[in-house]
Amino acid sequence: MIMIRSPLLAASLACVLAAAALPVASAQEVKTDLYTVVDGNKVDPKTLAGFRAWRQANCAACHGANQEGLAGPSLIESMKRLTREQFNQVVLEGRVERGMPPHKQAPIVVDNLDAIYAYLKGRSDGAIKTSRVTAIE
Ligand code: HEC
Repeated sequence: MIMIRSPLLAASLACVLAAAALPVASAQEVKTDLYTVVDGNKVDPKTLAGFRAWRQANCAACHGANQEGLAGPSLIESMKRLTREQFNQVVLEGRVERGMPPHKQAPIVVDNLDAIYAYLKGRSDGAIKTSRVTAIE
């Protein structure tokens, strides 16, 4: 058995143990020109709108619930190399002969194109850890 004779040492040891038991209070924030992400799953309003538009337009049906790819390619990978112009082009005009439908007639996509781009970049960069995101409180 360990005997602690110094009351001061005993008190400081108790403090250290108590602090270790507390959850980590500091939030992890990643902020870029495109998005702000806290704790890997809370995002700024625009990025949140991008997630909602992604859901509403049902991109996941072809690209996977986690953007990992399904009938269509993994956007986690694609977003690493596509330029912003290429992204706009493929999403709006589609690549019909290869199975990517055009979305230029879909207001939810057209009106939220910047936001969808921000959300998918955040996923591809690894800043957004889970496909589902919520608002920063
Ligand atoms: C019906 C299935 C389908 C839906 C729905 C769909 N995609 Fe695609 N998408 C594809 C396929 C298939 C490709 C690959 C085309 C090719 O081979 O060039 C693709 C390609 C892409 C690419 C280019 C990837 C690359 O590596 O060049 C992007 C970006 C993309 N889709 C985004 C989206 C977004 C955003 C949505 C929702 C608004 C969406 N897609 C909805 C099937 C789909």
